[in-house]
Amino acid sequence: MNDLVDLVEAARAEFTAAPTPAALEDAKARFLGKSGRVTELLKGLAALAHEAKKARGAEINQAKAAIEAALQARREALAAAELERQLRAEALDVTLPGRSRGTGSLHPVSRTIERIEAIFASMGFDVAEGPEIETDWMSFTALNNPENHPARSMQDTFYVDLKDAEGRWLNLRPHTSPMQVRYARQHAARHAQEIAAGRPMPEIRVIAPGRTYRVDSDATHSPMFHQCEGLWIGQNVSFKDLKVVLSDFVRRFFETDDFDMRFRPSFFPFTEPSAEVDIAFRDGPLAGRWLEVAGSGQVHPNVVRNFGLDAEANIGFAFGMGPDRLAMLRDGIDDMRLLFEGDLRFLAQFR
Ligand code: PHE
Repeated sequence: MNDLVDLVEAARAEFTAAPTPAALEDAKARFLGKSGRVTELLKGLAALAHEAKKARGAEINQAKAAIEAALQARREALAAAELERQLRAEALDVTLPGRSRGTGSLHPVSRTIERIEAIFASMGFDVAEGPEIETDWMSFTALNNPENHPARSMQDTFYVDLKDAEGRWLNLRPHTSPMQVRYARQHAARHAQEIAAGRPMPEIRVIAPGRTYRVDSDATHSPMFHQCEGLWIGQNVSFKDLKVVLSDFVRRFFETDDFDMRFRPSFFPFTEPSAEVDIAFRDGPLAGRWLEVAGSGQVHPNVVRNFGLDAEANIGFAFGMGPDRLAMLRDGIDDMRLLFEGDLRFLAQFR
């Protein structure tokens, strides 16, 4: 009898010590398997007399039942521990905020340029882009701004350590005006046959947005900034057309009719006469303040000649606007440097 109590104790101890279901099944085999200890005891019954066999058989079966119960209990305990472990490993905190990829968006200046392009495109203007590293002739000389002329200091820029075919330093264009020259010369070349035959040349109507550079840096000037050039050349284009185009642009860009516009006499080497274009809103936070939105003027005959065109037959105007300033006015930004620092906390406000 005592040997059976010990046997059950030994089985319990081994089951409890089994760390995994596989180890537990090995332990089971040692007691209940084909040659396990309980099975061996049952085999031993054969040698006993009838009465003794009955009594001992009952005792062994009791012990066997106790061992099976211990086995079952340990199986359940291991399964519960395994489930617990899995739940812990795969735990989801459903109260955590979701992780998103973060949607990108266009920079406020890019959005402004797209807006400018759409408005001018609807007025029949082509959109052109050109190089930011320019020759001396394109940035200055062709625009009636000869070497050593004091007007060049209005547009002091950065130079590249490389010379052009004429032996002059290449520059980072200080304005988009060289695009007037590039575009008009291409246009003239494209229509060389009509021009040679004395037929009227199709009008040039183009805007050219892009990056520009100057030696300037404060709250309203950045060494890299943007301009958008405009050029309209034809046989019969006047200052009145300039005024219509620019006032229509302002109306649509700012989505208001409530502004005054004035042309303030100015100087640019490449236009004559020249004017700064100012607007003043009649209401809103900027009401009553004159805000400069563009430089402009009638294209100088010397420049028309540099376009490769007859300055007697072709006349028109040019303007240059600052998309950065336009973005600042429209979006209420008071420091230009914010536009170019790349701080996402600022940029995300314009999504
Ligand atoms: N290029 C001039 C500037 O940068 C602007 C301008 C463009 C003026 C076209 C007149 C005509 O200041």
